[in-house]
Amino acid sequence: MDTHLWSDAAVEHPDPTVLEDLAVAVAAETAALALEVRERVVGRDRLDTKSSATDVVTEGDTACEALVRERLAAARPDDLVLGEEGGTSGTPAPGQVRWVVDPIDGTVNYTHGLPWFSVSLGAEVDGQVVAGAVVEPVSGRVWRAARGHGAHRDGEPLRVSSLEDLSLAVVGTGLGYDPGRRSRQAAVLARIAARIGDVRRTGCASLDLCAVAAGWLDGFYEHGLHPWDHAAGGLIAQEAGAVVRLPGADPDGLGEAATVVAAPALAGPLTALLVAEGAGGIG
Ligand code: IPD
Repeated sequence: MDTHLWSDAAVEHPDPTVLEDLAVAVAAETAALALEVRERVVGRDRLDTKSSATDVVTEGDTACEALVRERLAAARPDDLVLGEEGGTSGTPAPGQVRWVVDPIDGTVNYTHGLPWFSVSLGAEVDGQVVAGAVVEPVSGRVWRAARGHGAHRDGEPLRVSSLEDLSLAVVGTGLGYDPGRRSRQAAVLARIAARIGDVRRTGCASLDLCAVAAGWLDGFYEHGLHPWDHAAGGLIAQEAGAVVRLPGADPDGLGEAATVVAAPALAGPLTALLVAEGAGGIG
């Protein structure tokens, strides 16, 4: 058998900067649609729900995901898409691009008139995110990264915080939709609150990760994020110099559901504090 046909060298990998440009273009167009539809969504009393009574899905989420799928199919018909609302249509082959899409991250903020929500698109190849964009419809900020090419906000290079003292760190976190998990998360947060500088919960994980990339937050952690919540933001933070620990394995006792993203000097101490205060039991 001619084995070279089966080696990695035979698979042509796409240029991450080309995928990054496409992610930005599609996310920016979708952000405009999200704003348009928001007029009809904010303040509505009854919204459809998914995993729990507070996990809402709106006309904005479905319309935005449909637009993303349409634009990606037109530009790159051979790629796969994993979307928060529409799921996935297959298993990627070696070298095949899979887009990981959150059409509106921060849906609860979106329905409440709060400005912190985003359109988030990550492009994954062989299980690794290689490009991504997070666009904020209200502010117009564009966060972007391509693996090996750095992370940028509106053209400016991003760099994480250089803080070394965890007791001064401003740490973001998130709380899940399941009430049981949420109360375990809150209990851990109550225990670590006195050991760090301050806490933020914005309600939009992709923007929390971008905030770490910008050094606005010194670190972030949450249990239960989905791939679409962290695909683009995780790469943006990593390219800005953050240490990124994603769900899927449990190398440190925090559990398979944990995400921890922090400035290099803080990642170890933050992880150790979370383990010591029982975050491994959040589930
Ligand atoms: C949610 C937000 C929130 C985080 C939740 C996510 P969604 O995403 O990112 O900040 O705490 O875990 O599910 O549902 O608004 O796309």
